[in-house]
Amino acid sequence: MSVRKVPTPSGTDSTRAGLGPTMRTLPRRLWRSIFRSNPLPRNELERSQAVANNFFFHIPSAKVHEHTLRPATTFGLGLISLYTFIILCVSGVLLMFYYVPTPEQAYDRMLDLRGAVFFGTFLRNLHRWAAHAMVAVVFLHMMRVFLTGAHKPPREFNWLVGLGLLVLTLAASFTGYLLPWDQLAYWAIVVGTSIAGYAPLVGDEIRFFLLGDDVVGREALLRFYVLHCVVLPLFISALVGLHFWRIRKDGGLARPGRD
Ligand code: HEM
Repeated sequence: MSVRKVPTPSGTDSTRAGLGPTMRTLPRRLWRSIFRSNPLPRNELERSQAVANNFFFHIPSAKVHEHTLRPATTFGLGLISLYTFIILCVSGVLLMFYYVPTPEQAYDRMLDLRGAVFFGTFLRNLHRWAAHAMVAVVFLHMMRVFLTGAHKPPREFNWLVGLGLLVLTLAASFTGYLLPWDQLAYWAIVVGTSIAGYAPLVGDEIRFFLLGDDVVGREALLRFYVLHCVVLPLFISALVGLHFWRIRKDGGLARPGRD
């Protein structure tokens, strides 16, 4: 039986014979979407191009298409996501000088920030509003990428990296919610972790992993603090680096008529 070949946007062939062939080639396509092996440069021109295209030698690209420079191409949403993350890291480190993650002190320390610390209210509000902004802007950035078709090959791996960034951003927002240790924070985390407890098979384990106990208390506050201040920012920084490196490897931003 002959099967009609249909060219896909990446230039590879897939068939209309069902999911089978697509699934068989999936591991190979996934591997190639992450690691593209370029042949070794053979002459002076190719050698200088290899240096100019190297992400680590030229973090801002040596050459960009004019379409990339138009404000309406991206609305700057990816960069705004990055800036909000940097504001959160700087203001978060300053907040760490005052905050103590124990049930006895956490709430009082937040009150001190509002009443006794110079510019404390400003610092806390800056952190809070930047956190809300980051969640909103990352969503808008994702919508922009999807609506311009930039999630399709050859950028499918970067789309997955982006999804990882979205999950980490939401996780950072969730873990930060408990830290003021007021009624709103406490009950939000009671409800949130109870919902996690309803996950099939591993629900109780996930809930215990998050709380370190059966109730929201001292252990939960310490875990959320470490996740919020150390683990998640480190993972976000690493994935942002990977995200930017992939943009360069994928030949810059997607543009109509080319990808
Ligand atoms: C911390 C979160 C994120 C940061 C800092 C970030 C940063 C960026 C930046 C600076 C760009 C260059 C273009 C632009 O400014 O729009 C970009 C492009 C891109 N981002 Fe993100 N991003 C984040 C989250 C996401 C998410 C959640 C997704 C999707 C699930 C995503 C998928 C992509 C893709 C596919 C591109 C290439 C777009 C193109 O070729 O037009 N990113 N990102």
